[in-house]
Amino acid sequence: MFKKTILCIGAGYVGGPTMAVIAKHCPEYKVVVVDINPKRIAQWQSENLPIYEPGLEEVVFTSRGRNLFFSTDVDAHIASSDIIFVSVNTPTKTFGQGAGRAADLQYWEKTARQILKNSSNGKIVVEKSTLPVRTAAAMERILNSNEKGIHFDVLSNPEFLAEGNAIQDLENPDRILIGARHTDSAQKALQQIVDIYAHWIPMEKIVTSNVWSSELSKLVANAFLAQRVSSINTISALCEKTNADIEEVSRAIGMDSRIGSKFLTAGVGFGGSCFKKDILNLAYIAECYGLTEVSKYWEQVVAINSYQQQRFVRIVVSSMFNTVADKKIALFGFAFKADTGDTRESPAIDIAKALMEERAILSIYDPKASDGISSDLQQFRGRFTVEEDPYKTARGAHAIIIATDWKQFKDYQYEKIFEEMEKPAFIFDGRNILDHKKLYEIGFNVHRIGRPPLSHLG
Ligand code: NAD
Ligand code: UDX
Repeated sequence: MFKKTILCIGAGYVGGPTMAVIAKHCPEYKVVVVDINPKRIAQWQSENLPIYEPGLEEVVFTSRGRNLFFSTDVDAHIASSDIIFVSVNTPTKTFGQGAGRAADLQYWEKTARQILKNSSNGKIVVEKSTLPVRTAAAMERILNSNEKGIHFDVLSNPEFLAEGNAIQDLENPDRILIGARHTDSAQKALQQIVDIYAHWIPMEKIVTSNVWSSELSKLVANAFLAQRVSSINTISALCEKTNADIEEVSRAIGMDSRIGSKFLTAGVGFGGSCFKKDILNLAYIAECYGLTEVSKYWEQVVAINSYQQQRFVRIVVSSMFNTVADKKIALFGFAFKADTGDTRESPAIDIAKALMEERAILSIYDPKASDGISSDLQQFRGRFTVEEDPYKTARGAHAIIIATDWKQFKDYQYEKIFEEMEKPAFIFDGRNILDHKKLYEIGFNVHRIGRPPLSHLG
């Protein structure tokens, strides 16, 4: 017999790993993860999990079938649960008011109605998805305007995990944030959520707040992180003009304890399903409250990100004698960052599209993200191939572009790769991860972000 049943609606990048870690640390709780996507659930039930995340298999395989279960039967599991985490997607709206900026809350609202329909007793509903500030108020109104006489408490418990590092972030988070209203009922509910995390997280790291602060903090955390990336990327452009070196600048400023060293790596811009969506949402919310200057300030973070990607493509084309038409270019990396197979909003997508618009022929290799490439680039079918071997990817190419910071890209035999490429051979290291001096000595013309190029071409 389990002490309580926790349900998570949404078995994605957040729902799956988060619930697996809760199940691992709370064996007396039954943890069920449901999704409307039967393929995803079948994968969670199999040996081939739907997402790649270091350490995830071990955590899932330890608890699955013991106190961790995956199912498509959303209705039945709502009925039998005590606490419901909602971790469905909240993408940017593509239609109507706020299109391209506001969060699309249709999946969330449908879930709230489904919870209401299938509940015969009150439950704790926890916002795990990232949501606009004050969403909980709307959700409570939907859930509590029922004729069954049952009461729901809606709490906010945003997730701060970063993909590729999810298990570590869940095992040892910087903080757990739980927001609740100041009613007796909500405070009791809050205690139940604190009790779950207290199984493995020290109390001083469990932060409680009001619901609105919690909802807003999630958007603000992502906005601040993305802002650092955009800030350092603007400086990389300035470094290229002045012969300053972005790595030296990052190091020098990062040693100031008030600034800190993280999120100061210049590159081809940030990707991922969260940063752009959440900043645009933050800007939209500010604008809705009449705070135009606030809105414009944050929108600039996204504008600089696009600028950095376009700037990178311009450098590629201009360095290759102003034309890449019919030239083979090898793209190393397609995921939005290392250690994930996720390609959502990956900078590689826009870089690949821009180069194919210039009529380049792309050969693409990614250790984990091959599956997404063809659909992300479907309108360019015939202009690119997806490879399984990096050496084959680069064979006969005029240039290699590093679009993702996969560690293994550093270990390839670049002498061998160079021999098999067209000459002059170029490397554009969009992540500044390779040994540039060595590549230059091999014979490559090396272009990097925020540092002068190493060129044999004068
Ligand atoms: P995802 O797209 O990987 O997963 C969401 C899942 O919800 C999908 O599998 C979808 O089928 C399912 N779903 C949608 N409607 C449903 C319904 N009515 N019933 C059952 N299942 C339903 O998304 P994700 O990356 O896991 O993100 C989920 C939320 O968490 C988003 O709000 C996101 O902003 C936030 N978040 C994501 C990350 C991240 O790194 N991916 C980190 C922190 C927060
Ligand atoms: C982010 C937040 O970090 C996480 O807290 C939140 O829960 C979800 O959004 P994620 O998008 O998974 O996580 O990865 P993150 O490590 O933040 O990287 C985002 C993007 O920024 C990647 O494309 C990454 O390559 C890029 N980045 C990051 C840089 O270009 N430079 C940096 O210094 C750091």
